[in-house]
Amino acid sequence: MDDMATTRVRRATASDASAIAAIHVATWRSAYAGILPDRYLLALAEPRQAIQWRSHLTARAESTWVAEEGRAGIVGFASCGAVRRASVPAHAPWQGEIYTLYVAPDYQGNGHGRILLEACRTALAREGRAGALVWVLAANPARFFYERLGGRRVAVRTEAFAGTRLPECAYAWDSPSVH
Ligand SMILES: CC(C)(COP(=O)(O)OP(=O)(O)OC[C@H]1O[C@@H](n2cnc3c(N)ncnc32)[C@H](O)[C@@H]1OP(=O)(O)O)[C@@H](O)C(=O)NCCC(=O)NCCS
Repeated sequence: MDDMATTRVRRATASDASAIAAIHVATWRSAYAGILPDRYLLALAEPRQAIQWRSHLTARAESTWVAEEGRAGIVGFASCGAVRRASVPAHAPWQGEIYTLYVAPDYQGNGHGRILLEACRTALAREGRAGALVWVLAANPARFFYERLGGRRVAVRTEAFAGTRLPECAYAWDSPSVH
């Protein structure tokens, strides 16, 4: 594996859709095994995800970032934009939301998640969105990553997902920089 010094984060383009889709499917299958139904995870398909990501990236309704590491190419991605109001308590102060944040299983634990989260928070701040939140399945150990990076648990909810209902937590940051 290459050194972190070779890692860079840049804005994603439509030509990154296949690489993002591959990470999307691999991380969902590893992170959500035993949480989401097997049949749902097995049905995930890179070509279909690539089509969805290409249309997402072409529309540019949200900002999407990729982390590239040396010869490996894209090893993680994250996306963010305006907070989805239906998903937060009334009068919640956070104006930005991190919609996705995934690092390929072989590259986790090397700091890519941290720099992708920073990229999202910086982008949200530049767009004038004060504060940010992210929803994470309560059973996903990734919530400890958000706690490690200063996220404060601010809300819980139960969401219908893949034919099941699962508890989720929201983590939030009030200030624009990650500590
Ligand atoms: C969660 C995820 C994005 C974190 O990215 P990462 O590159 O592995 O994390 P980093 O190496 O940047 O870790 C930054 C810090 O958080 C800590 N951390 C990372 N994952 C952690 C976890 N699950 N529990 C506790 N601490 C964690 C690291 O130890 C590191 O701490 P340090 O400041 O002492 O060095 C990544 O592991 C991932 O993609 N997981 C699977 C998909 C997923 O669940 N995504 C979130 C969906 S809401």
